[in-house]
Amino acid sequence: MRGLIPDSFIDELLARVDIVDVIERRVPLKKAGREWTACCPFHNERSPSFYVSPAKQFFHCFGCGVHGSAIKFLMDYDRLEFPDAVEELAQTVGLTVPREGGREAAPREDKTDLYALLDAAAGWYEGELPRSGDAQAYCKKRGLDAETIRRFRLGWAPAGYDGVIKALGNTPRRMELLNEAGMVASSERGSKYDRFRERLMFPILDRRGRVIAFGGRVLSSEQSPKYLNSPETPLFHKGRELFALWQVKQANQSLARIVVVEGYMDVIALHQAGLPIAVATLGTATTPEHTEVLFRAAPDVVFCFDGDRAGRAAAWKALESALPRLRDGRQAYFLFLPDGEDPDSLVRKEGKDGFEKRIREAMPLSDYFFNELSHDVDMASLDGRARLAERARPLIGKLPDGAFRDLMAQELEKRSGARAMLQADPAAHRAVQRPTAVQRSLVRSAISLLLAQPGLADQVEKPYRFLRLDKPGVELLAELLDLARARPGINPAMLVEHFAERPEYPSLQKLMAATVVGEAEAQAAEFFDALQRMEDQAVTQRRDALTAKSREGALDSAEKAELRELLAARVRPPVASA
Ligand code: UTP
Ligand code: MN
Repeated sequence: MRGLIPDSFIDELLARVDIVDVIERRVPLKKAGREWTACCPFHNERSPSFYVSPAKQFFHCFGCGVHGSAIKFLMDYDRLEFPDAVEELAQTVGLTVPREGGREAAPREDKTDLYALLDAAAGWYEGELPRSGDAQAYCKKRGLDAETIRRFRLGWAPAGYDGVIKALGNTPRRMELLNEAGMVASSERGSKYDRFRERLMFPILDRRGRVIAFGGRVLSSEQSPKYLNSPETPLFHKGRELFALWQVKQANQSLARIVVVEGYMDVIALHQAGLPIAVATLGTATTPEHTEVLFRAAPDVVFCFDGDRAGRAAAWKALESALPRLRDGRQAYFLFLPDGEDPDSLVRKEGKDGFEKRIREAMPLSDYFFNELSHDVDMASLDGRARLAERARPLIGKLPDGAFRDLMAQELEKRSGARAMLQADPAAHRAVQRPTAVQRSLVRSAISLLLAQPGLADQVEKPYRFLRLDKPGVELLAELLDLARARPGINPAMLVEHFAERPEYPSLQKLMAATVVGEAEAQAAEFFDALQRMEDQAVTQRRDALTAKSREGALDSAEKAELRELLAARVRPPVASA
């Protein structure tokens, strides 16, 4: 896929975007000297070891070692594939991604076809909706207005076994795609038929607004299952996707709070009532992955459940999946609805204001946590309090290191009288390692320092005298120098991206990370010093080789002259680190 986007475009893109902007929009950064820092979004920590360098257009975490360009950050943070990350960045600076050879040249495994097909399917269902009286009547009964139907792209899968197949499966390749997208099912005898029939269709969109799956509801309560969802496909992973997250993002510039409800219709009713802050899991329990996506969308997450037994069980599951994600600054709340009601029915009864009031009064996670753990123990007895402590400790131990965890431990101590004695999360205490120059060979140091300031290349004279040195990495250094000279103004991230498809790419990224923090002048001096030492070593290497050869009496006259010259040259003492 990557090969389809020309290198020159990646260059232009990385020259236009500012990595600080890109990251700041997702992770609040603090200025620290020339760099910006934050607690690393990729591992739990209390003090910041995540650095973003505007000069180098590069990020690096000294705690867990993640690093890279703005593109890499988006890939890691938003879990995008390379072309999607490029697309996303390009949009923010108003660039259009060119594709070499055009779309036709896309390889078969390109998922574009699959997206296009699912989008066509959604369009086809949308078109069918006005043609079905029953479906129209049902929408009316459920109070769905035209704007909501349009915004959620609701549709109708008509009766019959081959509506979608006839409309979209007209070539073997498209049949294959329909199958891959989960739109068709196979009978025992192997014949294919439409998976969704006589159902109101709810397209499920990914975080970029593309259709990736469907849910379909029957109209009458007699049939089952009431909702049928697409199976897991290359594009659809239930445990990761949230229904209506796209619509929520479209409706809100920034979100203080997001509400998770149980059903499609609950989400839609809340949006229609003027609360476009609701999403739903897709007929599955809330997973830790969901929780992470939710907290990235908003600092406060309200989990909303039915008041019945099943709702309570689901809420506890959600709590467990939220615990490891509760870094400082994130808060979870629980909202239990009266028996027999769901958000859809309640918001119709109580209106936007009534439901908003319930959201505001939702129970903080800490209250729910201690209430739930102590509801069946006698807190007046020593035994009961010991039991509470026993149940709570491992759960509190799942919280990331931080002020919230301390508070929860204190609260437990207060309630149970027992010391919390938490098991520290080993990941949270991983020693912070700062790479040092001494660990690297001379050539690697030089590469690393050049990556930090590609502009230094201009000051290196050609031909490169260090090229005579016989050490791994020398050729690569020369190549980097040539590239940097040929492209004045190239920034470090761009320079490294040129090697994206080369085996050296990961090591270049690491070398770049090693110098992400540091004084430019000192690094420049270190760079020229490294080059000088390489030249010196080249001289020593050559002199030793010629000396050895002369002992065998095998030097020709030119070599003899060269050796004399080399022996006369002042050579600095050999470098220990090389
Ligand atoms: P509910 O049964 O609570 O339905 O399922 P609901 O959202 O209130 O639906 P309406 O109001 O009767 O239309 C909640 C969610 O559980 C999943 C769906 O995602 C549904 O929205 N579910 C439910 C299924 O996946 N399959 C089912 O058969 C039922
Ligand atoms: Mn309902």
